[in-house]
Amino acid sequence: MKSSTKGVYTLPGNQEKLDLLKKKNEEALEGGGKDRIAIQHKKGKLTARERVDLLMDEGTFQEIDKFKMHRCKDFGLDKEYYLGDGVITGYGEVNGRLVYVFSQDFTVFGGSLSETHAEKICKIMDMAMKNGAPVIGLNDSGGARIQEGVSSLGGYADIFYRNTLASGVIPQISAIMGPCAGGAVYSPAITDFIMMVEETSYMFVTGPNVVKTVTQENVTAEELGGASAHSVKSGVTHFSCANEVDCIKNIKLLLGYVPQNCEDDAPVYPYELKKDETRKILDNIVPENPNHPYDMREVVRGIVDENSFLEVHKNYADNMVVGFARIAGRSIGIVGNQPQSLAGVLDNHASIKAARFVRFCDCFNVPLLVLVDVPGFLPGTDQEWNGIISNGAKLLYAFSEATVPRITVITRKAYGGAYDVMNSKHIGADLNFAWPTAEIAVMGAKGAAEIIFKKEIANSENPEEKLQEKIDEYTKKFANPYRAAHRGYVDEVILPSNTRIKLIKGFKMLENKVDVLPKKKHGNIPL
Ligand code: HXC
Repeated sequence: MKSSTKGVYTLPGNQEKLDLLKKKNEEALEGGGKDRIAIQHKKGKLTARERVDLLMDEGTFQEIDKFKMHRCKDFGLDKEYYLGDGVITGYGEVNGRLVYVFSQDFTVFGGSLSETHAEKICKIMDMAMKNGAPVIGLNDSGGARIQEGVSSLGGYADIFYRNTLASGVIPQISAIMGPCAGGAVYSPAITDFIMMVEETSYMFVTGPNVVKTVTQENVTAEELGGASAHSVKSGVTHFSCANEVDCIKNIKLLLGYVPQNCEDDAPVYPYELKKDETRKILDNIVPENPNHPYDMREVVRGIVDENSFLEVHKNYADNMVVGFARIAGRSIGIVGNQPQSLAGVLDNHASIKAARFVRFCDCFNVPLLVLVDVPGFLPGTDQEWNGIISNGAKLLYAFSEATVPRITVITRKAYGGAYDVMNSKHIGADLNFAWPTAEIAVMGAKGAAEIIFKKEIANSENPEEKLQEKIDEYTKKFANPYRAAHRGYVDEVILPSNTRIKLIKGFKMLENKVDVLPKKKHGNIPL
C-alpha cells in the first residue's frame, strides 16, 4: 500500500503500519456489522465472540486466522468480504487447561461454511491433535455456503474426516447455538458430546420445507429438530440447555471430568479420606417389595462425592442413568439401570445410550461404575423389529472391550442376559459387588416356576397354590446374591452403607490396571 502527500508517493511509516493493524483488528471484531449483531441479540443469541469470551478463562484466548477471507468470486461475493470469514478460531484455557475452539459467526453470511471457513476449523483441529487437547465447536450456521458449491461441500468433508481421526484421541464437544442444517449436522454427530440450546437451536438433515414436500408432514423447525426433540426423542443431543450461558457452563463442567487426550488421565480433585465414609442412607433405598421402584440416582448420590454427579443424556431413555461423577476426587463414569422407569429394563434406546457412554469412558481412561437392577431385556415386536438383538449387543461389546477399571454393584435384580451384559465378571469386570438385596437368576421367580414346573402345577389339585409354592422355592434358591458369590461371580456381598468405601478402595486398587486387547486393526462393533 502507498500513501500520497502532495502528489509524492511515500511508503507508509511504522506508525501507519501499526494503525493499519489496529484498524483491521477492529474491523474483524465487528463480524458482519452492527446491524446484524443487533439482530443476533434480538433473537436472544450471543455473538460468536461473546460465546468465546464466556467459555475461555479471562485473557487466555489467542485467535488464529483472524484476517482470513473467502476466495469466492461468484454471485457477487467478490464485492463482499469479512475478515475471519464467519468463524472465530483459536486456543486458550478453560479452568486452566488448554482447549481449542471454533465459534461460527452467524452475522457473516449466516455462519455458512465456505472453503476458507473450513480451512480455519481444520487448522485448529490439526493443532489440537498434535498437542493433545480437546476441541470445542460452537455451531451457529446456515450450512454450506451456497455461493461456493462443491468447495464448501469439500470443506465439510475435510472436517468430518478430521472429526473421525480425532475420535478417541482428543475429546470433541459440540454446542449447537443456532441453526445446524444439512450435512453440517454430521460433524457434531461424530463428536463425543452434543449440547443444544432450547428454543434457539435446531439440527436436521433436511428442514421443514423439504419435509413438507417429501412426506407431506407439517412440522416446525423446533418440533423437527429442536433441543427437546433431540434430547427426548432421537437422543442425538446429550444435554438440553436452558440458554447459551447454561450451555457454556455445561461445557466447562464436562471438561472437568475428562482428560486432555487418550494418553492422559482426568483431573484429580483434592480429597481427604474421612474417618467414616459409610453412608447409612444407602441401607434404606431398596424397597421391601422387589416390585416397587426406587430412584437409582439416589444410590448414585449416596455413593459419589457431594454434588459431583453430572448426568448425561438425562432426558433420553430414562430407564438407564449415565453420567460422570467423582469418587474421592477421581473422575468415574456411571452406568445404572433405573428401576423407576420401565422397571429398569434394557431396551433399544437404553442399550444404545449406555453403549455410547461406555465407549467414551473407555477411550479416555475414565473408570466405570455399573449399578445393576435389571429385570432383563424388554420383550415385544417393537423391540425385536427395531433391533434389540444388535442394540443389546452394542452394550455387551462395549463393556467387553473396555479396558478401564470396571466395578459393578448389583443392588437388586440381575436377570437373564441382562445380568451378563451389565458388566458381569464374565465379560471382564474387575470387581463385582452385590448388596444383600440382590437377586441373580435366569429370570424372575414367577416366570421360572411357570416354565420348569409347568406339568407339576397343571396336574396339581390346586394349581394356584402349587405355583406360589414353586415361586417361593425358586425365590429362596436364587433371589439372593449367594449362589453367585459361591461361584466367585460376585467378589463380595457388601452392606449398602459400605458401598462408597468399597468403591474408593476398589478404584484405588485398580489405579494402575493394564489390560491389553488382542492385536487387531479394529473390532467390528455391531453398529
Ligand atoms: C450463504 C447464507 C446461508 C448459506 C444463510 N445465509 N444461509 N449465505 N449460504 N447457506 C445468509 C443469508 O443470505 C443472510 O444474509 C444471512 O445469512 C442470514 O440469513 P437469514 O435467512 O436472514 O436468517 P434467518 O431468517 O435467521 O434464517 C436462517 C436460516 C436460513 C434458517 C439458516 O438462512 C436458511 O434456511 N439458510 C439456508 C440453509 C441451507 O439450506 N443450507 C444449505 C444446507 S445443505 P444477509 O446478507 O441478508 O445477512 C448443506 C450441505 C452440506 O449444508 C453437505 C455436507 C456434506
